[in-house]
Amino acid sequence: MSIKREHWGSRLGFIMAAAGSAIGLGNIWKFPYMAGENGGAAFIIIYLGIVFTIGLSLMLAEITIGRHTQSDAINAFKKFNKPAWSFIGILGIVTAFVIFSFYSVVAGWTIAYVVKSATGAFSGMDAAAIGDTFGGFVSSTVQPIVYHGIFAALTVLVVLGGVSGGIERASKILMPVLFLILIALVVRGVTLPGAEKGLEFFLSPDFSKITASTVMAALGQAFFSLSLGMGVILTYGSYLGKEANIGRSAWQIALLDTMVAILAGLAILPAVFAFNMDPAAGPGLTFVTLPAVFEAMPGGYFFSIIFFVLLTIAALTSSISLLEPIVSFFSTKGFTRTQATIGAGVLAFLIGIPSSLSLGAWSDIHIIKGQGFLDSASWLTDKILLPVGGLLICLFVGWVITPIAIREVSGEGEPSALVKAWIFILRFIAPIAIVMILLTGLEIVTL
Ligand code: TRP
Repeated sequence: MSIKREHWGSRLGFIMAAAGSAIGLGNIWKFPYMAGENGGAAFIIIYLGIVFTIGLSLMLAEITIGRHTQSDAINAFKKFNKPAWSFIGILGIVTAFVIFSFYSVVAGWTIAYVVKSATGAFSGMDAAAIGDTFGGFVSSTVQPIVYHGIFAALTVLVVLGGVSGGIERASKILMPVLFLILIALVVRGVTLPGAEKGLEFFLSPDFSKITASTVMAALGQAFFSLSLGMGVILTYGSYLGKEANIGRSAWQIALLDTMVAILAGLAILPAVFAFNMDPAAGPGLTFVTLPAVFEAMPGGYFFSIIFFVLLTIAALTSSISLLEPIVSFFSTKGFTRTQATIGAGVLAFLIGIPSSLSLGAWSDIHIIKGQGFLDSASWLTDKILLPVGGLLICLFVGWVITPIAIREVSGEGEPSALVKAWIFILRFIAPIAIVMILLTGLEIVTL
């Protein structure tokens, strides 16, 4: 039955695709406002600590499972003769649809903002007027759904091209473009008069702002940002050959992801301070505060367009990674890649419609904790689905297939101290931390 499994053209291609998955709205939209709300540098230090211990360990665990089994997230566990653990893969597919449903809606806004920036829609407006325009746009019925559809269609187009011809090729072009745009924006941001205040806020830690709930927020953000806990990285790892050094790969992906989050903060926060805006504006930071900053800044017209192009690229290389695990699984069930991709894409688009409507026509419908579809989907992802998926993956690698995992990472030699530390984190530290996210997220424990 086995058709030859697709593979990456090169290890660099894998790194670009996996970094493309990791680097997304989470880095550029969410990270800067979370840092803004949670004490700037102090949050960053905690975030870094989490990424390079728990985050990195889980990333390596996912790559290990994928590379060893050369299988999608459901069949991988069957190959270990642990079919019950296939639940992780099924959960991953459900999670992919849930994330896609709100991710593609927000990504649709970014495409709309490329158009609005280019047509000068915010010209002459202050932050309040831009806020009204944003509110009017997201609460309207048709437009945001059309943009969500355009974004979903772009995602489908890339995934149709396959692993090396579609995902890898797109990532190898788009990721360097993303870096260049980001660097241009950082240079612009930090050279604005008055940017120092923002730099200081971003780079000098105020530990008094750190509470247990900040730590939980950093942990949840690290999972989301690194694309962990739903089998994306596992699936991408399954397209790697045996010769690739997976420890080094995991480290490089985590490093790139973190660099982009920090650069995004450096691009955004100094500019926000330079124009006396509020760094703790929350989710509206990107769609309200920033356009106002661009309006006021020399060259703002140009920088606004490239900023939203950047955001769209980042979102696209992430959304393809949400679709791919679904396609990968259905390709083993007798569907062609084309059928699986179009089918999953259409379904994901339909599931996203309620999220889009939840900010307008359907704003009275509450799903979880009084929240509409979009916020509920995001809450469910951050607080339940990714932590549960991540917890199971840690336990599986740390306790169930430990010797296989160690061999996969270190070959036949004696495992190094780092590999031992990795297993220790997977066995104890990460599970405890994740259970804490679950307990606080469900408000069983309040901090
Ligand atoms: N990591 C992406 C971001 O930061 C989002 C994302 C893509 C994701 N694929 C994922 C998150 C899989 C969790 C799991 O925007």
